Amino acid sequence: CCQSVDLTSLNTLRLPCQAERYVVPKTLNALQYVVREAVDKRWRITLLGGGSNVLLPTALKGIAIRPGIQQWWLESRGESVVAYVGAGVNWHSLVMTLAARGLWGIENLALIPGDCGAAPVQNIGAYGVELKDVIEGVQIVELASGKVRWLSTDDCQFGYRDSIFKKALADKVVITQLALRLSKKPQPRLGYGDLAARVSASSSCLAVAQAVCAIRREKLPDPNMLANAGSFFKNPLVSSEQLSRLLQAHPNMPYFPQVDGKSKLAAGWLIDQCGLKGARQGAFGVHTQQALVLVHFGGGDRPELLQFAEYIVRKVYGQFGVELEPEPRLIQA
Ligand code: EPU
Repeated sequence: CCQSVDLTSLNTLRLPCQAERYVVPKTLNALQYVVREAVDKRWRITLLGGGSNVLLPTALKGIAIRPGIQQWWLESRGESVVAYVGAGVNWHSLVMTLAARGLWGIENLALIPGDCGAAPVQNIGAYGVELKDVIEGVQIVELASGKVRWLSTDDCQFGYRDSIFKKALADKVVITQLALRLSKKPQPRLGYGDLAARVSASSSCLAVAQAVCAIRREKLPDPNMLANAGSFFKNPLVSSEQLSRLLQAHPNMPYFPQVDGKSKLAAGWLIDQCGLKGARQGAFGVHTQQALVLVHFGGGDRPELLQFAEYIVRKVYGQFGVELEPEPRLIQA
C-alpha cells in the first residue's frame, strides 16, 4: 500500500521532503486498514491534508497519511442544509459549489487552500467567519483503537487558529468527515471592511464568494505561482494595558478588540512597519503585497526558512515588544 514519496510538490511552501511511506486511502475502510497496519508495525503516523499549512522536514520517518475520502452529500433540515463532507474534498471547490447553490455559511472562506479534513485542525478563518461558526460535528477515527466517533463542536474546543486537534487529540485521531450547517436563507456577513466595499446585503452567495476570491488574489500569492503557506504568523493577542502602551507610541496601529478584553494585532502591519515588506534572505522573502506571508523562491529548505522567520520575530519584538508565533504546523522529522 505504501511507498516512499517525494512530498516537495505536495506542500505549498515547496519545502524539500522525502517521506519514508505515503498513502492516500480513498475510503473509511481503507483508512482504518492502513491505520491498523501502521499501529501494528509501530510506524510513526503523520497526518497530512493539502500541505498548505505545514512546515515539512527534509526527511519524514514512518508513514504520512492523507485521507482521500471524496464523498459528500446534503441533507435538508427545514431552513438549513447539513453538508456531510469527506476529508479529502478540496475546501475551495466545496465552498464554490455550495455558494453556487445559494447555501450560505462558508462563502467568506473561499480560496483557502487545502483539504476539508484539515480545516478543523486550525479552525480556518477569514473575513469575519471561522469554521467553528458553521461546523456541527467532526467524524474521526481513533488511531489507537481504529474506532469511528463523532465529536460535537464543543468537543473540538475551537479557538483562534486552534482546536483540540492541535492539543489533547494531536497525533491521536484522523479526521474523516465534517458536518457543516448551511442556511438556505441569505445570511451575508460583510463586517470585514474590504468585503463590505465590494458587495451589498442583497448580493448572492456566489457574488460574496467571488468578492472574497478577488480580495485574496490581490494580496495573497497563488501557491502554484509562488510557493507559500498563507499567513506565516498568527495575529498576536495583547492585553488592554499593552494595547494602550502600543497605541500611545503608534496611534495608527490597527487592532481588533476580542470578547475576552484582549485585542488582536495585525502581524502583517507590525512586520510591514519594521520595513520588512519585500525583504529577502536567500531562497525566502516577505511577500510584497502582504507582509504576513513568507514566500519561497526555490532552492531553500526548512532550516533556512526557520532562520528567516526567527529574524523577523526578533525585529518585531525589538520594535514593538510583541512576540510573533508561526501559524503553519512544524512537522516532526
Ligand atoms: N497590513 C499592513 N501591511 C501588510 C499586511 C497587512 O499594514 O503587509 C494591515 C492591513 O492594512 C490591515 C491589517 O494589517 O489593516 C490586517 O490585514 P488583512 O486584512 O490583510 O488580514 P491579516 O490580519 O493580515 C488575517 C488572516 C488571513 C485572512 C485575513 C482576512 C491570520 C493569521 N491571518 O490576515 O488568513 O485571510 O485575516 O480575514 O489570522 C491564513 O491564515 O493563512 C490567512 C491568509
